[in-house]
Amino acid sequence: MKDNSLGIQFSIPYEIAVVRPLKQTTLAEREEALRAAYYNTELIPQEMIYVDLKTDSGVSSFSTAQLAKLTGLGPLESGMEMTPEGNGAFVALTEKFQRIFGFPYVVPVAQGRAAERIWASSHVKEGAIVAGNLLFPSTRFHIESNGGKVVDVISEAAHDLSSPQLFKADIDLGKLEMVFKEHGTRVCCVYVELCVNSCGGHPISLGNLKEVKAMAEAQGVPLFLDACRILENSYLIKHREPGYQNHPLQGIVHETCRLADGCTMSALKDFLVPAGGIIAMRDQASYQKASVQSFLSGSQPTSAAMAALGIALEEIFASDSYVTSRVEQVNYLWRRLKDGIPILKPAGGHGIFIDAKSFLPHVAAGNCPAEALAAFIYHVSGIRVIKGPPLAPSQTARGVELLRLAVPARRYVQGHMDDVAEAIQYAYSRRDEIKGLKKIEKPGRSKFEPALFAPL
Ligand code: F0G
Repeated sequence: MKDNSLGIQFSIPYEIAVVRPLKQTTLAEREEALRAAYYNTELIPQEMIYVDLKTDSGVSSFSTAQLAKLTGLGPLESGMEMTPEGNGAFVALTEKFQRIFGFPYVVPVAQGRAAERIWASSHVKEGAIVAGNLLFPSTRFHIESNGGKVVDVISEAAHDLSSPQLFKADIDLGKLEMVFKEHGTRVCCVYVELCVNSCGGHPISLGNLKEVKAMAEAQGVPLFLDACRILENSYLIKHREPGYQNHPLQGIVHETCRLADGCTMSALKDFLVPAGGIIAMRDQASYQKASVQSFLSGSQPTSAAMAALGIALEEIFASDSYVTSRVEQVNYLWRRLKDGIPILKPAGGHGIFIDAKSFLPHVAAGNCPAEALAAFIYHVSGIRVIKGPPLAPSQTARGVELLRLAVPARRYVQGHMDDVAEAIQYAYSRRDEIKGLKKIEKPGRSKFEPALFAPL
């Protein structure tokens, strides 16, 4: 609890109403699970995991109101088809979304990737250039599969793992200007990810975003957001950017969106649902196109998914306390690890990122230090961490090797975070025992399937 002039403020704005028991595994059982999963922690079955930090996507807990709505909807309630206005969940969700985010047109979709696919098919043409800040691999994929190319314009601080810069996702305005100069009318948009996953969940400041908007507007180029971590980005603006301390989070969310011509958003991370996403825009013609494409490509969410998302929006924006408790939990774990363990600095919004090369300087890059560390942590503690989504090409070119501890929202309590901190500290104290792994090939496995490993 926090004491201030308004009395006592609650730190955790929910209580546990339903639980899922966790199996207490032994060291020997985890050794066997690792062997069976070819030392790839991604492949370990869920029932063998204690705390799961694989992703923060689609894994937060439902509230009682969401559960009631999900079970209350008739199983035969139809999907949206071509008449979304006749679907109650659609109408309620779009109304909430328009009010909270301020975009006049909204197309609900099944998840973030669907939003990106539909968005890219109408905005990216062959030969187009997208200026971005270490965009997520699926965003990059959809831009490239429409014949476009992403040029990274993120600040250099994003590549400096120990830089204390507070807004590492900021765009380098000099780099952006160069892109406009070099590619002229081929630049089809600036696409900004909020709280960039690849560089540690670090935020972009509103001051920077305003300058980016002004530069893009001067070129007649639209600005789009990947807004799936907009809540964490807004919270970090409130606490780090001068002038925003007294702003309610909803105001910062609104101001962020006001600068953009549209956004794509996966609702699986910040918005407490296992399915759903949104494409939002200001322009009616793109809305109509996206709406038909969502219908034709089978990307519409179910009524239940829209209802659950609508309730989550109400719960999240009822006060600032939900987002505060979410980001402060990540911050708590970060503070427990920051002295002594090589983690990315400063704290990000949704997870902790270990610099695997500094953690295991004795393990050569070819011997998979991040995967070997993940396997060791699982073996000693039952806690699952994985490398996470692939890094951007500009990071792999610099030889960056990260292990992501993605903290799911509204799922774990402080005791879980304490156990995670102890497991990481224990692994660090015994890091000399970690020798590395070697990749093994199996006939018939494609390069898109998870890699398999064996101990060295
Ligand atoms: N954008 C960002 C920044 C993401 O982190 C993700 C997914 C997506 C887009 C795609 O959304 O999964 O709903 O299709 N991130 C997950 C993760 C997979 O673990 O970080 P989606």
